[in-house]
Amino acid sequence: MVIRQIYSHKKAYLDLLLLGDEQEDMIDRYLDQGELFVLETNGTAAAECVVTQVGGGIYEIKNIAVSPPYQRRGFGRALVDFLIRHYPDCTALWVGTGESPATLDFYHALGFREFRRVKDFFLQNYDHPILEGGVQLKDMVYLKREGPASS
Ligand SMILES: CC(C)(COP(=O)(O)OP(=O)(O)OC[C@H]1O[C@@H](n2cnc3c(N)ncnc32)[C@H](O)[C@@H]1OP(=O)(O)O)[C@@H](O)C(=O)NCCC(=O)NCCS
Repeated sequence: MVIRQIYSHKKAYLDLLLLGDEQEDMIDRYLDQGELFVLETNGTAAAECVVTQVGGGIYEIKNIAVSPPYQRRGFGRALVDFLIRHYPDCTALWVGTGESPATLDFYHALGFREFRRVKDFFLQNYDHPILEGGVQLKDMVYLKREGPASS
């Protein structure tokens, strides 16, 4: 398993990016400025994440996805652990997500805790209903985990 940063032709990973955020024009809002990391296993791109810098040592995961055949093998956790090592000046890692139980379970298992929510974000910013696990997403929930530079 290897994690590589991708600097150009980021749209080559659109299939994976759309797993994490199903509307392409929303991805376009952060893909250029964001840092894209791809996890490969046996030569296959199995997972990705996109991170932007908020400022003050805060980094935000804008998109994270693991290809379905590779889920529940620790690759999502490996990407988040990689980010914590990759940004030694990180005071906090943020992520905004919908209230899908599986996604929230993932972040809670990795030590993220909710600190803010934006009411009706998915209703107001997406052009169609976003369903995850049979649940329609409404609010954007922000969670954070302390980074290595937090103390
Ligand atoms: C959410 C996602 C990134 C998790 O990646 P993953 O590689 O499958 O997760 P991991 O194997 O690293 O899981 C780490 C821990 O998180 C929890 N977890 C992960 N997926 C879970 C699920 N579907 N249900 C409940 N808990 C889950 C577990 O505690 C797991 O540890 P365990 O397998 O030892 O029990 C992946 O399922 C995914 O890409 N989903 C579709 C896209 C998406 O929803 N992206 C997030 C939008 S912000």
